[in-house]
Amino acid sequence: MHIKNICCIGAGYVGGPTMAVIAKNCPNIQVNVVDINQQRISQWNKIDLSDLPIYEPGLKDIVEKCRGINLHFSTDMKKNIAKADLIFISVNTPTKTRGIGSGQAIDLKYVEASSREISKYAKGHTIVVEKSTLPVKTAETIKAILDATTKNKDNLSISKSFSVLSNPEFLAEGSAISDLENPDRVLIGGEDQEAIDDLVNIYSKWIEKTKVLTTDLWSSELSKLISNAFLAQRISSINTISALCEATGARIKDVSLAVGMDRRIGRYFLNSGPGFGGSCFKKDISNLVYISNHYGLFEVAEYWQKVLDINSWQQKRFVELIVKNMFGTISSKKIAILGFSFKANTNDTRESPAINICKKLIEEGAFLKIYDPKVKKHQIMKDLSSIHESNEKKKWEYSDTIYSTFKNADAAIFLTEWGEFASLNWEEISKVMRQPAWVFDTRSIVNINNVRENGINIWQVGYGN
Ligand code: NAD
Ligand code: UGA
Repeated sequence: MHIKNICCIGAGYVGGPTMAVIAKNCPNIQVNVVDINQQRISQWNKIDLSDLPIYEPGLKDIVEKCRGINLHFSTDMKKNIAKADLIFISVNTPTKTRGIGSGQAIDLKYVEASSREISKYAKGHTIVVEKSTLPVKTAETIKAILDATTKNKDNLSISKSFSVLSNPEFLAEGSAISDLENPDRVLIGGEDQEAIDDLVNIYSKWIEKTKVLTTDLWSSELSKLISNAFLAQRISSINTISALCEATGARIKDVSLAVGMDRRIGRYFLNSGPGFGGSCFKKDISNLVYISNHYGLFEVAEYWQKVLDINSWQQKRFVELIVKNMFGTISSKKIAILGFSFKANTNDTRESPAINICKKLIEEGAFLKIYDPKVKKHQIMKDLSSIHESNEKKKWEYSDTIYSTFKNADAAIFLTEWGEFASLNWEEISKVMRQPAWVFDTRSIVNINNVRENGINIWQVGYGN
């Protein structure tokens, strides 16, 4: 089949950028991104491109070029599903919060709802592609829902049919556009060779064919979970070593460099910090733990659970050492928080270590002044809402400008590695902080000598005193 019309269900961090890059590289294909969230769709359609719902370097330019030409954002599921030759399911797949598997298993309700919409509105033959990260064997569920509508009540075939493929997304936020333009690999799992070829042909418009791997559905679904698990495992590994460096006086960055220069190990994902955040690592590893237990592989489950445990431990350890260094109490002290997103170059705060750390600091009685170059005040309010609901007194405030954040602060904590934090004027900052002032740098982003030269105490992750 020659693909002329694509629909993507889910206009989020994956659906939006991925479809923008497909539209840019395939000018002959019409790409329609649909979502149930009217506000999100309106934001995608806003004339002011600085206010897109997602901040990703390079995204704005592609949307400007393609929107209204072959890239469209809409809430009209019926129309866009009906005319699609190929549909990506790119909806959120959060961890279940209740019932069987609560806290570990993936909640498939959005995937199931999307499959039902497709089964209802699709016409002719449609290729359905899992783009969301899904537990192994979810394609079976999708197939079962879709196939239920391909026969009428007398069990006679009606004029619609489906092929299901798995095509997990490996983009990282903050570098989504370059990851999509130049991926390490594209992975396609399926049983219908013709459908696989159709999807391969789309990617081949801008990606070398040798980078497009094909496999069966289950191997594809599992590969995505395992890629995330391995990445997260490296972060937990290096974070355990950061504590050992602090205890012994070794320097974490030197250790990471020496270890990572071994080509068998590789240099990426060896930055110690406040633990991994983001919407996926925790949920995907929790799901891996759940699946392993389900198959009776308890040692496997325990092994991966430890990666999650170390992540929480690192955050708890940081709060304890902040309190300890500040004479054992931060009650009524003012603390500047620099960075709230889960990593630099994104406005996403899902599972950001900043949320946990800020809540713990507030519980200890501190007053926070929070600055982030891309995260808006209303998002932080949402993330810290459990604190606000139970307390009358103001516990934190939003800071619009970086330098005002430090005013009268007893300490400044760097939680996200935004580029602008690397070149601050510490002479100016030292004049406005309350002495004795502290800097806690959980990302090793600030210049330790500049801070010390200006009479400020500093603790940096992975460095002993
Ligand atoms: P997101 O929450 O940003 O976007 C999902 C969108 O789907 C939302 O806008 C939601 O309104 C919409 N949606 C939910 N149910 C719907 C329905 N029935 N019909 C129409 N729209 C519906 O999520 P995301 O970060 O884009 O992640 C999507 C999937 O991709 C997840 O499975 C995730 O694990 C995976 N993934 C995410 C990333 C990432 O960096 N965020 C990277 C790779 C893979
Ligand atoms: C991650 C993966 O990198 C993507 O390949 C995957 O597609 C995506 O998850 C997903 O499935 O959602 P993302 O979460 O956007 O992407 O960002 P990462 O760069 O992986 O960072 C995740 C977290 O780990 C961040 O909090 C980051 O600060 C932290 N991190 C990363 C470290 O603490 N140290 C490092 O060396 C690298």
